[in-house]
Amino acid sequence: MFVLQPGQNRSFGPTGPYWRRSLRSPGGGDNLFVASIVAIRPDTGEYVWHYQETPGDQWDYTATNHMILSDLTIGGKKRKVLMQAPKNGFFYVLDRTNGKLISAEPYIKVNWASGIDKKTGRPIMNPEADYSKNGGKTWMAMPGALGAHDWMPMAYNPGTGLVYIPAQELGFPYKADANFKPKTHGINLGVDLGALNLPDDPKIQAAVRATVKGYLIAWDPVTQKEVWRAPHDGAWNGGVLSTSGNLVFQGDGSGKLNAYNAKTGQRLWSYPVQTGVVAPPVTWAKDGKQYVTLVAGWGGAYPLLVGGLSLDARGKKIPNKSRVLTFALGGTAKLPAADVATDMPLDPPAQFANAATIAIGQQAYDRSCVACHGSGAISGGIAPDLRYSGTIADQTAWNSVVIDGVLSDQGMISFKENFTPKEIEAIRAYVIARAQVAAKTK
Ligand code: HEC
Repeated sequence: MFVLQPGQNRSFGPTGPYWRRSLRSPGGGDNLFVASIVAIRPDTGEYVWHYQETPGDQWDYTATNHMILSDLTIGGKKRKVLMQAPKNGFFYVLDRTNGKLISAEPYIKVNWASGIDKKTGRPIMNPEADYSKNGGKTWMAMPGALGAHDWMPMAYNPGTGLVYIPAQELGFPYKADANFKPKTHGINLGVDLGALNLPDDPKIQAAVRATVKGYLIAWDPVTQKEVWRAPHDGAWNGGVLSTSGNLVFQGDGSGKLNAYNAKTGQRLWSYPVQTGVVAPPVTWAKDGKQYVTLVAGWGGAYPLLVGGLSLDARGKKIPNKSRVLTFALGGTAKLPAADVATDMPLDPPAQFANAATIAIGQQAYDRSCVACHGSGAISGGIAPDLRYSGTIADQTAWNSVVIDGVLSDQGMISFKENFTPKEIEAIRAYVIARAQVAAKTK
């Protein structure tokens, strides 16, 4: 465990969190309470029970996803259960009175474990998944670090007895970073995020994008079986709302709010909200009239980290338009026309550095810039796409941002504690190289 210092937070700082267990605890072990559900008494903070879903978690699977409590009849007995579909791909039904496992089955493709041992409650791990110990090879995991289901809330409908999961097939290449040294700024995972960089061939990029899938899955928690699934255009879709009128509402990454028949999965309604959606809709009533309200807007780790993958089926960035939208039967309001996306000119300057410098720049970028500006310097449209930035043609302008931190109050801090001025110049060379590749393949 690490101790937070003033000014540090869990994600950014030299204390971790290391994804690689060999860095956290070279002796191995489960790392209690990593990726665990812990029950405590709210009045006293007293510990009651815990259940560790992913012992020694090295894939950022975590157990922080939405938990749903209900009473289910399982094997003829009424059980007080806790249900969770964490990032690791298994749907868990626990006895919430004592934390014991009732059942756990994969709700999407999983390759890091072959199942959950019903007696011990522990995953039956695939030894290949331990990329801390595989001699530096890349391990392609399913699900990946963004989960078979990320933070977007799922929904349970007691009427249908089904749980509706915003699920995705989104693998992740885990590779130990051989030269890892923690930095004061940036994410200190101990993995080489350069493994995320796609080949530049647009056909290969499109083919990889086509393997990324998103679904709304209706799951029966008693039989641990899928009842239906509705496909989306891609991964990273919105949280879910289910109503007693047997509807399921979910926004999607490509800019629609959809309503489905909760029993069959048939799509009954779809509205173009002009932005990718990640939040769940809510429903409420006033003066006898029912409304559905959505905080519409796009963002999060997927478009930030793997911008190239998060592009839509046409290879375009999914827009963000942050707005609160409210719907009702008989509503007549119309959205103003959608903004027209215009391609910025891509006009990279001449390269000033040699291949060795560009390689140093790439390594530094993959340690400290990739999590916001995107793998391969391809942004998903949330933080600026540095290939298009005027600052790459002008060392003074670049340094004013990256060294002097002139955009700090906009979320772009100075990285001078992490890198020498030479390394910061090497990052600029790397981004120019990436911009030149993009200009050629346009
Ligand atoms: C935590 C997220 C985050 C990280 C990590 C990050 N940036 Fe940024 N960066 C931003 C945001 C947000 C902006 C836009 C600020 C604004 O609105 O002006 C930005 C803007 C910039 C700009 C100005 C672009 C322009 O044309 O306005 C440059 C240059 C830049 N970043 C370089 C880097 C480099 C180099 C690294 C790694 C050493 C890095 N950034 C790491 C979030 C980040």
